[in-house]
Amino acid sequence: MHLSVLSETTANERRVALVPDSVGRLVKSGLTVTVQSGAGLAAGFTDAAYEAAGATVAPDATSAIASAVLVAKVQPPTAAEVELLPAGVALVSLLQPSTHVELIGQLNARGVKPFSLEMVPRITRAQSMDVLSSQSTVTGYKAVIVGASALGKLLPMLTTAAGTLAPAKVFVLGAGVAGLQAIATARRLGAVVSAFDVRPAAMEQVASLGASFVAGDLVSATAEGTGGYARAQTEEEQAKIREALAEHLRTMDLVITTALIPGRPAPLLLTAAMVDGMKPGSVIVDLAAESGGNCELTRAGETVVVKGVSVIGPANLASTVPQHASQMFSKNVETFIKHLIKDDALVIDEADEITGAMLQKGPG
Ligand code: NAI
Repeated sequence: MHLSVLSETTANERRVALVPDSVGRLVKSGLTVTVQSGAGLAAGFTDAAYEAAGATVAPDATSAIASAVLVAKVQPPTAAEVELLPAGVALVSLLQPSTHVELIGQLNARGVKPFSLEMVPRITRAQSMDVLSSQSTVTGYKAVIVGASALGKLLPMLTTAAGTLAPAKVFVLGAGVAGLQAIATARRLGAVVSAFDVRPAAMEQVASLGASFVAGDLVSATAEGTGGYARAQTEEEQAKIREALAEHLRTMDLVITTALIPGRPAPLLLTAAMVDGMKPGSVIVDLAAESGGNCELTRAGETVVVKGVSVIGPANLASTVPQHASQMFSKNVETFIKHLIKDDALVIDEADEITGAMLQKGPG
């Protein structure tokens, strides 16, 4: 059975779907693997490393895909890549199915079986396939690094012969996978960290990382919806949250926002008026930028400076740490591919909770 790993063609995408370690394990399990030349280079993985792991390197996408039964990618395929996919092939990739309805239709029309990595169900046995979690871990870490670089202050407290520097104050809004990693990273760098989330489970997790929880009276047992996700707050609840956070924000140096509701625009946590009350020189890193932003002033992919406050809306932060992001992405993809293979054959069992949730069949 033949598995193909393609190079990414989307702008600024430096990750690769499978790294040599994963390829080696898949080869040992009986797969034949072809990697498009240069696929791993931006993430630090050479063609030679793939060959040493047992893969064949093909000069271009067309020859890499020839006779493939499975194709692994990071970003959704472009129109040109869709044309290359033969009928019957299983594509394992990020697909953003809720917004890429047309793409799913095109793939289905060609007889391709598209598996969306965003749709891994939140069940224990699928945790090792969950790219949203693994990539959020990278994103939460990098958000602090990006924010710290933009800040005119050091994060730790320093007592030096040139005087004492107070530690920076970091506030993390949304304490899911990315938020918790941001808290841990900011703590490691010596900041004084506080956080807020609407889910009660987050309170204990925030405390366990040594951060303080802000506006705990607004946390409610009803805030959690299905699958551990937060439900959308009502406009009244959201207004109360904003009111409670405004005062706290006035003294913050670095604010990292991560709040998301699956399938909906990101909740508005920071209005322009709240940003107006922040200290000049402070920095906001909005990880929800690509879903509309948690801050009213956020522009995805840009940095906006308003009265001395920098609002950074980074796009695809995981790709800026391509080696480790790819390593984790690859482990997720490898586990899913092994899940699809039974007795050396690709078995698409739609009744299976994981396979069925990830297979995209479009509206028809
Ligand atoms: P996410 O990326 O969907 O959202 C980020 C955070 O924003 C969440 O903690 C959410 O509660 C919070 N949020 C939403 N609306 C908010 C608002 N108005 N104000 C403040 N915060 C708001 O979340 P993520 O990282 O996916 O994690 C959510 C939960 O799911 C966590 O408990 C996590 O441990 C769990 N999880 C479980 C998995 C599994 O069982 N396989 C896999 C991944 C996460």
